[in-house]
Amino acid sequence: MASPLILAIDQGTSSTKALLVDDAGRVVSRATVPLTETQPRPGWVEQDPEELWRSVRRAVAGCVDPAAAPRVAGIGISNQRESLVLWERRTGEPLGPLLSWQDQRTAGRCHELAGSAELVRSVSGMPLDPMFSALKARWLLDTYDPDRSRAGDLCLGTVDSWLLSRFGGEHLIEVGNASRTQLLDVETARWDPRLLELFGVPAEVLPQVVPSCGPFPAARDLPPLADGVPVLAVMGDSHAAMFAHAGWRPGVVKATYGTGSSVMAIGGGRSAGLCRSIAWDLGDGPVPAVEGNIRATGRTLTWLSELLGAPAETLLAEAEHTGPGGVHFVPAFGGLGAPWWDPDATPVITGLTLGTRRARLVAAALEAVAFQVEDVVSAVEETAGQVRVLVADGGLTRSTRLMRLQADLGGRVVARSAEHDLSALGTADAAGSAAKLWTPGQLERRPRPAEEFRPSAGDAERTARKAAWHQAVRRARTAGR
Ligand code: G3P
Repeated sequence: MASPLILAIDQGTSSTKALLVDDAGRVVSRATVPLTETQPRPGWVEQDPEELWRSVRRAVAGCVDPAAAPRVAGIGISNQRESLVLWERRTGEPLGPLLSWQDQRTAGRCHELAGSAELVRSVSGMPLDPMFSALKARWLLDTYDPDRSRAGDLCLGTVDSWLLSRFGGEHLIEVGNASRTQLLDVETARWDPRLLELFGVPAEVLPQVVPSCGPFPAARDLPPLADGVPVLAVMGDSHAAMFAHAGWRPGVVKATYGTGSSVMAIGGGRSAGLCRSIAWDLGDGPVPAVEGNIRATGRTLTWLSELLGAPAETLLAEAEHTGPGGVHFVPAFGGLGAPWWDPDATPVITGLTLGTRRARLVAAALEAVAFQVEDVVSAVEETAGQVRVLVADGGLTRSTRLMRLQADLGGRVVARSAEHDLSALGTADAAGSAAKLWTPGQLERRPRPAEEFRPSAGDAERTARKAAWHQAVRRARTAGR
């Protein structure tokens, strides 16, 4: 009998990926389908829920050879978080677009609800911010069901909910994804009536919260798979990447360097600058996590690439060997996320001279990634205890300059993952555990190749560099006031 395979589907913001993993954890096949997003007005970011579903089908069809399809023992799904879809319960048809996690249309509402900020933070674990789903839920319902008379006919859900709805009639949400909606009590893992009332979301419109190992409906309509392949694990993408790093080991903090960045550690401490959420629940109860989200890291480089009319790769190559130059770029596009959570902060570039060339500007944007990540890792350290190693994944980790700087700024080891697609691998790891292909202990011992960067800067240099950065951050936070 041929050995079993796990199919991992990672539904992300810019693409959907599918990976086939064998029973030794090796990737044997992969496919990627790019996605579009639209920005109909400044600050609005939307995607088409049907395009997301089609991309899942295309990625699976591109990844799974029909001859291998009968060997697929189970599926793991990871997904972009906080983004929200509203659909008709009876027909499964979406009402309106998916509102992306990046969407800022509800920023004004945050100011209106400022009086309830403390309640929101203490119950949900996260600050009032347009990134989370709660205000998107309100906007979608205000737009498509203003008097809330149709709540029983409608379904709200994050991307995991939306994809699972295509497999069967059930309306479910995985607990880690639910914890990022800002409607869940992060301690009890239940929808919180006070938050539902505050955000104007009737309970009937919300999905049932289930653990990361389900039970989920079996997959259907995913050729070349036969209908009925079990979905064994679902996780938010950042959580899945944490799982792929075996991030439950003490002293491990994870940073994903993407459009924005997520810094995450397992643990339940409280900090004003960080969110408390649920990493996963694999049947033993919810595992708490702390996380800081940075709005613009890779996005800053994409912006510079658009502005300067050169590919980001070219700009990064030019910047790789640029010397230090006293220029600081605080990319507070749409304000600053963790650990500042300051929606009124505005982007600033300090230290420009007539001699500043574009390579220095790009280097400053890259340095801003490391400075921002370091600010969040420091906050995690205060909350969750000493950080032994910062495990790093995501596209920007290709920059060796960035990795070296990250190690120097924190005085800690940074381990750059040699693997791509950590979110997909993490959900494959969890699904394979559920299928009893391996145990968590085996996952811990399984070598995931990584390159280590050790700090070379001394304490005095580190302190001086951070002080100069924080001066620029102060300017970003006061410039517009
Ligand atoms: O919190 C948003 C995050 O889950 C999106 O991740 O990889 O799709 O940009 P990504």
